Amino acid sequence: MTLSRLVVSASLGLVACGGSIPVGQGFSSTPVTATCASGQQWTGGNSESELMNPGLACRSCHLGDNFQNQNPTREAEPSKAFFFMGTVFPSVREADLCAAAVPTDTVVEILDAQDVVQFSLPVNAAGNFRSRTTAAGLTLPYKARVKSGGTVNVMASAQMDGDCNACHTVNGLNGAPGRVFLPQ
Ligand code: HEC
Ligand code: HEC
Repeated sequence: MTLSRLVVSASLGLVACGGSIPVGQGFSSTPVTATCASGQQWTGGNSESELMNPGLACRSCHLGDNFQNQNPTREAEPSKAFFFMGTVFPSVREADLCAAAVPTDTVVEILDAQDVVQFSLPVNAAGNFRSRTTAAGLTLPYKARVKSGGTVNVMASAQMDGDCNACHTVNGLNGAPGRVFLPQ
């Protein structure tokens, strides 16, 4: 799959030099279907819970922003806009509001730029995790990784924004591949 994708994008690149690319050429017009491995959806809306809204951009909403129209009524809970918030999923392409159901030993580690672990954040039954303060509590940028069952999934780059799901959307934004996911 990786190889054929690469070939497709290489030939598209060549077509682009020639001037015109029919929209969708080389790609399926079917949108990527998000899965929900746990089969459990959050249906509680914005009622307060550690398990709420898995997959949505937690901190953005708590600050009253309307990221990707997730908060059209502009609700806000700024005192709980913890600096590091997000969801760990079993795989890269899981749907918004899907409860993530990851092994109970799963943690998200937040490291400083010198690779020293500063926080180890437990991951709950919805896959959600968060830090305890609205300030970062370390000198930015930070690094992050997921640990589970003795294996690790590392983010190579350092980041400034702790609202993990604002990049780790179902299809990924700003270069993120999709969800924050378990070591595979
Ligand atoms: C679309 C808006 C929205 C999103 C997205 C959202 N929240 Fe919330 N959250 C709220 C609101 C509003 C409250 C306060 C609710 C209340 O007071 O009844 C809240 C409260 C909370 C609380 C406080 C619970 C308590 O018992 O005091 C936690 C923890 C929390 N959210 C975690 C998260 C996490 C983790 C995410 C992301 C996975 C998230 N939220 C995503 C709107 C949101
Ligand atoms: C500004 C965008 C951005 C934010 C915010 C962000 N990431 Fe990432 N993340 C990326 C990009 C880009 C990659 C892929 C390249 C890399 O590894 O650096 C990535 C990759 C990852 C990976 C490995 C692949 C995957 O999807 O699981 C993990 C784990 C990860 N990030 C965890 C986190 C955690 C935890 C947070 C929040 C504390 C976070 N990220 C916040 C952009 C972001």
